[in-house]
Amino acid sequence: MKLSIIGTGYVGLVTGTCFAEVGHHVICVDNDVNKVKLLQSGGIPIYEPGLEELVKKNVAAGRLSFTASIAEGVEQSDVIFIAVPTPPQEDGSVDLSFIEKVARDIAAAITSYKIVVDKSTVPVNTGEKVAETIKRYCKSKAEFDVVSNPEFLREGFAVEDLMSPDRVVIGVRSQRPVKAMTEMYEPFKAPIIVTDINSAELIKHAANSFLALKISYINAVSAICEASGANVQEVANGMGMDARIGRRFLDASLGFGGSCFPKDLSAFIKIADQLGQPFHLLKEVQRINENQMARFVKKITDTLWVLKGKTIGVLGLAFKQNTDDVRMSPAIDLCQRLQKEGATLRVHDPKAMEKAKAVLKNVTYVADMNAVAEGCDALVVATEWPEFKKLDLNRARKALSHPIMFDGRNLFDVAEMEKLGWIYKSIGR
Ligand code: UGA
Repeated sequence: MKLSIIGTGYVGLVTGTCFAEVGHHVICVDNDVNKVKLLQSGGIPIYEPGLEELVKKNVAAGRLSFTASIAEGVEQSDVIFIAVPTPPQEDGSVDLSFIEKVARDIAAAITSYKIVVDKSTVPVNTGEKVAETIKRYCKSKAEFDVVSNPEFLREGFAVEDLMSPDRVVIGVRSQRPVKAMTEMYEPFKAPIIVTDINSAELIKHAANSFLALKISYINAVSAICEASGANVQEVANGMGMDARIGRRFLDASLGFGGSCFPKDLSAFIKIADQLGQPFHLLKEVQRINENQMARFVKKITDTLWVLKGKTIGVLGLAFKQNTDDVRMSPAIDLCQRLQKEGATLRVHDPKAMEKAKAVLKNVTYVADMNAVAEGCDALVVATEWPEFKKLDLNRARKALSHPIMFDGRNLFDVAEMEKLGWIYKSIGR
């Protein structure tokens, strides 16, 4: 099939590439001319495992191309995906201006029947607005259908999630686009559920908020574990073996972050308020998340007392493993809180240092994770990169003034660390 994807962020670029990989012809559109030039010359603007090879392969096969012209994308495709940002506004609601602008641009460009698919995460009722907008601005009066098709990919595992989705949600207003949408997803061999548009839009916000709730739940349990002497990992393992609960997203941490959960949670709370159905449970999820970070910082100040004049080594800046994304990163938040307390920082991340430099100033960026501890008073683990498990603990112990580690991701074994002579403080253990 012939597809165009408007917006080449994480979602747009990975979606377009994976559709090309299964045999569709895909044009990725972005209004950022420099980004388009970079993509056309074989560059990739983000770090995402497996993506670069797939982009190269599909460009070479003639199934994937890039343009800055929406009109060109629309003209040459049967299905048009909207995958532009939906950033948060001051009050937590969603800024839909990019979606509205793209809807107008599509309206101006269509001359024959098209399926317009919204992939961006949007508040319930947005599809109706998109349909209204296209109808209003479409001079050719061509027919079209609007579909909601939310994306569930995780950064760092985006290719894997897209190629083998748990499910595909297709929200429609009529049956007309169902056949094409189903055929388009057929190669992915995933269960497809067809709903009305509003339900599809809600599935996305409800799913992300539920996952955030799951993390806040285990983080709240981690506080009780610390107060009672239990071990949160064992509690999570025991809970997770119940198939109704499941073990995933029960890893206690210094809190969730990233460009999705915090934003989607605020948006869902706002939508519920606007609909006159305040969602107090989700407000508590946010509060627990903030508290979890505050508890972690307190753990550090309780141990080191005055941070002014102390140097702390921080392992991890990305909001989670396998990504260079630092948007709403708990690790960056932590660094800034430690700086506020007067600490000097030496930091390292396997992929995110370049992006971190724009937001985290006055720190020493260290290229080698094993050199971070040099001249430090303590080490902090802030992101769950698997390579941190291979840290040279012996070298770090000797480099530190005292062997103190605060592990915000529970990467190491408590008994093992204590045996090696560390003062080791983690989450909920
Ligand atoms: C999330 C969802 O998992 C995706 O399904 C969704 O498509 C995406 O948002 C989106 O809306 O676009 P993502 O933000 O990439 O994906 O990252 P996650 O893997 O969900 O992690 C989010 C945060 O939760 C990270 O800070 C992570 O470290 C934290 N986390 C996750 C925990 O603290 N504990 C866990 O057990 C799991």
